[in-house]
Amino acid sequence: MRTDEQGGATLSSSRFVCTANHGFAPYAQEELRRLFGSVKSTVIVPGEIFLVTLPAEASEAVGAITGQPPMFLRHLFPVHFQEEGTDLAQVLERLVAFIRNRRELIDQRVSLQVRKGANSSWTESAGALKQALSEQLSDLPMEQTVQEADVIVSVFADTDTWYAGVSHPQDNLSDWSGGAVRFQKEEGQISRAKFKLLEAEATFGIDFSAFHQGLDIGAAPGGWTSFLLERGLKVTAVDPAKMEPSLMKYANLTFLRKNASEVKFKENTFDLLVCDMSWSPKQMARLVTDLLYSLRSGGTAIVTVKLMHKKPLALIHDVMASFEQSGMQIQRAKQLFHNRDEITLYMIKYGK
Ligand SMILES: C[S@@+](CC[C@H](N)C(=O)[O-])C[C@H]1O[C@@H](n2cnc3c(N)ncnc32)[C@H](O)[C@@H]1O
Repeated sequence: MRTDEQGGATLSSSRFVCTANHGFAPYAQEELRRLFGSVKSTVIVPGEIFLVTLPAEASEAVGAITGQPPMFLRHLFPVHFQEEGTDLAQVLERLVAFIRNRRELIDQRVSLQVRKGANSSWTESAGALKQALSEQLSDLPMEQTVQEADVIVSVFADTDTWYAGVSHPQDNLSDWSGGAVRFQKEEGQISRAKFKLLEAEATFGIDFSAFHQGLDIGAAPGGWTSFLLERGLKVTAVDPAKMEPSLMKYANLTFLRKNASEVKFKENTFDLLVCDMSWSPKQMARLVTDLLYSLRSGGTAIVTVKLMHKKPLALIHDVMASFEQSGMQIQRAKQLFHNRDEITLYMIKYGK
């Protein structure tokens, strides 16, 4: 907080455009409320995007948020530019002038990330707006890039108002526009569920190829199993349902067509346990904790938790507590972009 010349406190504040998975914005707002006390927020896209005023300077606010990474807040960018968007030519001209004046872009790799609301005064696609901005900025001494940017210029063109801000990728919680992580669908890909593990790998910085023996609980039709096999693991997959037949060619795969409550392993067999079971979270937690004896100390677990409950924060708290009581240390709990009504837990086993 700044102090004035007489040493009295003056209130600082900063504004951000925040994004959560569709329907989960109220929980992202609640996370910010728990972190900052009362916060002022205005809906931009219902259930998904909101403008928030936080009672701290931008760098302090970002420090507090990244220091305790939120579960539901997927992306944010600081608002440095705000303009009524009814006179399109004027708002575009002002936006370009704002970007041209940002000295922190000089000699940097800069990513322009442009999104728009459904009824934006910009009627063409967000891609077309990005293209128009990119052309008008092409003479600036900076390299325009999509990936591995040093600096991101974020733009949100809403119905009446356009917002923009300049920030470092690590301060936005994601270097993807709006935190919407995109992967190319591969030919023959077994399930979209594979994207969840790909995203967990990138977001949590997990090197899956460092594991040797993986247990996949609730594995069918086999998207996660195929991912682990591709990373070179030996995989034991458990599911009463059928696996995709193309997986049966892998010598490294053992498939047990059973309910997870019926299987038994030797102690400390696996160094990775994954579970993506579409089931009640409490039952899932019981089934997984009953199998934790088979995970070595120091082993990793990645588990999705379905949020079938009206109070997801309380539910997640209970599920995390039951894993912690069973010797797991929670590294991260996060609703990934590819998680629908669920979150992903990343945990490490300590002790025996
Ligand atoms: C969402 S799917 C898993 C998708 C998988 N991760 C993939 O990448 O293809 C959930 C699976 O959990 C399985 N499942 C549900 N209850 C189970 C149980 N008690 N034991 C083992 N598998 C279970 C279901 O049969 C279903 O195939």
